[in-house]
Amino acid sequence: MGKVFICDHPLIQHKLTFIRDVNTKTKDFRDYVDEVATLMAYEITRNIPLEKVKVRTPVSDADGKIISGRMLGLIPILRAGLGMVDGILKLLPAAKVGHIGLYRDPETLQPVEYYVKLPTDVTERELIVIDPMLATGGSANASIQLLKERGCNQIKLMCLIAAPEGVKAVQEEHPDIDIYVAAIDDRLDEHGYIIPGLGDAGDRLFGTK
Ligand code: PRP
Ligand code: URA
Repeated sequence: MGKVFICDHPLIQHKLTFIRDVNTKTKDFRDYVDEVATLMAYEITRNIPLEKVKVRTPVSDADGKIISGRMLGLIPILRAGLGMVDGILKLLPAAKVGHIGLYRDPETLQPVEYYVKLPTDVTERELIVIDPMLATGGSANASIQLLKERGCNQIKLMCLIAAPEGVKAVQEEHPDIDIYVAAIDDRLDEHGYIIPGLGDAGDRLFGTK
């Protein structure tokens, strides 16, 4: 069974509180999401493999270790996943970025695919699927499935807020996937919104409501 990591660093929880706040305006919302994504990238890369290198200090040779950034891929689920990409790239600038376009049908809550563009070497990369919201889990599951069907087998999921229902759905359908979240909330409402959540992440990021 994949593990669930709750990124409960005080800085993340502080910023998440402003992200949730209905009075936080679009620009600040976007900035906070960007900052939390950077902080979560720090957590998600904790066990990333390092490569040994030699460097020369001003006084002697030294053994060093560096991250081989070319092995990473970020896969934001459009639209809202886009809000977390730049924050992660600040720490992992060599990662490539693939996009999966899905929207959730408001009636059925099922994900509808409308766009997929992935790096050509995606199967060789360790992938982080990014979406602020894990509600029913339909969008995350469809994205992970799509990546697996294309031969990807090193996948993690990073979300800001998850509902217990979404965590369970991903664990049942993709038990090999580790999930990183800043918070697991109480439940879903009858429209599939996370309670208390933050509302509609895409609309709040892009000011479309
Ligand atoms: C939101 C969110 C996730 C999805 C989560 O996207 O960003 O992708 O819903 O819900 P689920 O776990 O029940 O699938 P939405 O469909 O609103 O599209 P948007 O990002 O374009 O606004
Ligand atoms: N998508 C969102 O943007 N918010 C939710 O609470 C659920 C799905």
